[in-house]
Order: sequence, then structure tokens, then C-alpha cells
Amino acid sequence: MELYDVMTTAETTRRFQTTPVPRGVLHRVLDKARFAPNGGNRQGWHVIVVTSPETRRALRDLYRGPWQEYLARWHGSADPARSRRLAAADQFAETLHDIPVHVIVCTDINTLAITDAALGRPSIVGGGSVYPFVQNILLGCHNEGLGAALTTLVISREPELRKLLRIPERYAVAAHLLVGYPVRRGGKLSRRPVEEFATYERFDGNPVRSEGP
Ligand SMILES: Cc1cc2nc3c(=O)[nH]c(=O)nc-3n(C[C@H](O)[C@H](O)[C@H](O)COP(=O)(O)O)c2cc1C
Repeated sequence: MELYDVMTTAETTRRFQTTPVPRGVLHRVLDKARFAPNGGNRQGWHVIVVTSPETRRALRDLYRGPWQEYLARWHGSADPARSRRLAAADQFAETLHDIPVHVIVCTDINTLAITDAALGRPSIVGGGSVYPFVQNILLGCHNEGLGAALTTLVISREPELRKLLRIPERYAVAAHLLVGYPVRRGGKLSRRPVEEFATYERFDGNPVRSEGP
């Protein structure tokens, strides 16, 4: 696929076939994703590719708790589009163990370049050393005809994840990706237009438009 096509169509897949994903394909995706930028080029990521049915079920069980808490917050939403999205995400949560590949992306916290650590607000920069890599995995999967979903809810259960997957203390969990062949492709991505979030020269400058002054 063309790069721009991949970037503009890599939707979050929540319905997967149970067909296994060839190991060669998974290797190829990671082999391309590893060229992601990261602080100081220290490449502190470690990827755990989970295919064992028992471990996938354990991950589903761990995911369910935070998912139910999230769902409870939106219970009875009057917005029909949101209700539809939540129903799809609920089905996804309940059947998470059927998805053939769970990819847990960890990162060595000692390698993160956290240049905003002293600002007295939640750090954004630390995650920057691992999320470009995660995004590359998502794009690579899409390019291979795979569907993928980036999730983070289960990370609130990091102590249990550590035990289950034998993750050393110095690693943090950054992402839980679900990967497999999608039931259907071609959902439409909906994002704000450039004019709404990009400006010239200052935060309150002129909007960046496709043409004109
Ligand atoms: C940091 C981050 C965390 C996310 N966590 C979850 C999650 O735990 N569960 C889930 O179902 N989707 C999760 N998502 C997926 C978002 O819901 C999804 O990207 C968004 O709704 C846009 O969907 P689309 O890409 O299909 O348009 C997460 C996305 C990001 C970027």
C-alpha cells in the first residue's frame, strides 16, 4: 500500500478472524517498526508476542476489570453513535481472548528521555520514546492486511501483567496491541481537519490551509 493510504485507513480493528498470523509476517512488521525515532536512539522497547490461548485468556480476564469501570462511566449515554462504539468495544473486550495475537510492548524506563520531568505536570515526553514504535507496528500491520487495535486499559493492572508475563521491574508496559486478520476492512476514519489544529507562527496564528495566504 502507499504510505498515505496506510496512514489514512489504519482504523482500530475490533472484530477479528481467528485465523493464525504467520510468524514471518509478525517478524516483518517488527523488523520495519524498529526504525522508529526514540530518545537518544536507546531503543528501550521489548515486545512480548502472546499467542498461547491460556495467556490470551488471562489477558482478557485482566482487561475486563478496567473495561467494566470505563463502561460504567458512559452507561446510558444518550448519543447513539457513542452507544454503538461502546457496544462494539464491549463485544471486543468479551472476546479478546479469541484474537490470535496479543502484543505487549514494554519499555525500559531507564532509557526514556523525560525532558519534561521537572515541570510539575504529567510527563508527555517519556512516552515519546516508545509510541512512535507502537504506531509503526500499527501501520505495518495494516500494510500487511492485518487489523490491529492499540489498547492501554489493562496497564492499570501492571503488577498482575508483570507476574503473568515475567516482566522485569525496570520495564513499564506501554501498550497492549491486538492483532489478527480483520472480519472486514474499510471503516472510515474520522479526524479533525488540519485548519482546526494547526496554525502558523503562534498558537493563535493563522490556520494552516491547503492553499492561499
Ligand atoms: C493511547 C491510546 C489508548 C487506547 N486504549 C484503548 C483501550 O484500552 N481499549 C480500546 O478499545 N481502544 C483503545 N484505544 C483506541 C481508540 O479508542 C481509537 O484509537 C479511537 O477511538 C479512534 O478509533 P479509529 O482509529 O478506529 O478511528 C486507544 C487509543 C490510544 C491512542
